[in-house]
Amino acid sequence: MRAARFRRLAAVTAGSTFLLMCVGAYTKAIGAGLACPDWPTCYGTWIPFLRPDVMAAAPYTTGQVFAEWFHRLLAAATGFLLVATGVAAWRRQPRGRPELAGVLAALLLPVQVLLGGLTVTQDLQALIVTAHLGTAVLILASVVVAAVGRRLTPG
Ligand code: HEM
Repeated sequence: MRAARFRRLAAVTAGSTFLLMCVGAYTKAIGAGLACPDWPTCYGTWIPFLRPDVMAAAPYTTGQVFAEWFHRLLAAATGFLLVATGVAAWRRQPRGRPELAGVLAALLLPVQVLLGGLTVTQDLQALIVTAHLGTAVLILASVVVAAVGRRLTPG
């Protein structure tokens, strides 16, 4: 993939990661971390809003369930972008620091998804929530380096 396209892909991935982090922070701020009490489904279904019985029985508001559910949906979309960025980075030659940063971001994705799941199944344990935030910051930093690194270094 040509440098300009790679930079664009990494920039879109960085934007999506940033938005996802904001939605995650919002989810936490409104106390919705356990608004979907199971994982990967939410009340045993993929789209709880299609099930009025499920929503009526949920001990959270529709807004809280939506925030947590939307965080997961956006994580899935961002996950695809991170994998695409990682694969494109791996295929590029020469493979310098910006490309390695793109690969690193993709390698951190499964760790982050696992931590996200544990966040829920382990009842928002402080260490796990902290690790989830820390890994998000590392992913964002890596895709930003992938997006801007080639502008700063030749190749
Ligand atoms: C690339 C993927 C992901 C990124 C970058 C990400 C990022 C974040 C961030 C930055 C926060 C806010 C943390 C804080 O304010 O301390 C958050 C919260 C949260 N995330 Fe994720 N997340 C991702 C995937 C997931 C997945 C797959 C799940 C699965 C359930 C998940 C579940 C949660 C939950 C439950 C919270 C709220 C935690 C709380 O209430 O304390 N995340 N996420």
